[in-house]
Amino acid sequence: MIEKLNSSISDEEFDHIFPKREQRISNRHWTPIHISKMASEFLCHKDNLNILDIGSGVGKFCLVAATLHPKCNFWGVDFRANFVNIASKIKRSYAMNNLNFMCRDILGMSIMEYDGAYFFNAFQERIDATAKIDEQSIRSHFQYYKYMEHLFNQFNHMAIGSRIATYHTPSFFIPKNFRLEEEHLNGMLRFYVKFENFNPLHFLNKTKVDSHIIINGTGSAKR
Ligand SMILES: C[S@@+](CC[C@H](N)C(=O)[O-])C[C@H]1O[C@@H](n2cnc3c(N)ncnc32)[C@H](O)[C@@H]1O
Repeated sequence: MIEKLNSSISDEEFDHIFPKREQRISNRHWTPIHISKMASEFLCHKDNLNILDIGSGVGKFCLVAATLHPKCNFWGVDFRANFVNIASKIKRSYAMNNLNFMCRDILGMSIMEYDGAYFFNAFQERIDATAKIDEQSIRSHFQYYKYMEHLFNQFNHMAIGSRIATYHTPSFFIPKNFRLEEEHLNGMLRFYVKFENFNPLHFLNKTKVDSHIIINGTGSAKR
């Protein structure tokens, strides 16, 4: 399956790599191959970069990106152990040395030392019943706000030149010291580059303004 990525393969065919239940939720929750190709092309602008997928699920984005960019290293993090186990098993069966999966909650993680990050609106399940994955999708605007604040703060501390690719993600997650470089598919896919160091005012301004947007739950991630 993985080897077909260099030619052409449909998402439906590729998804057979996952167990049946994870195949069924792919259309809503895992990044399609053509999006992963575009995002990883942007993130891997040179060799030896460390790229983090924040909320990596069963590893679909990472598996595609790591196959197409063997000279970069990919790290997937997800708090669901069952997803991390599926992703790790596939990684091992294809002996992919530039790919690692970790079972952690992003809230306890520092991400500022990565060169780039991919983010497919991982916290939507906290505020949107249609984004429910399982019984761990406990809805809480408070929790959503905490996750968003953590991510925003971490992005704010990343090094100049760091890159972020977002998919189906509201722009209030991104500090103003990132410049929007490219926008595709009516803003569903956005590419940013960090151009300025940490500025505490970015954080204060942004959270104050956007708490209204968050509470009203307009950050939809429907495809
Ligand atoms: C929309 S899926 C994206 C999966 C993957 N990035 C992809 O594109 O194929 C979001 C994932 O984020 C994970 N997630 C949600 N909240 C998280 C958190 N606080 N820490 C780590 N992972 C989280 C969920 O378990 C889910 O697998």
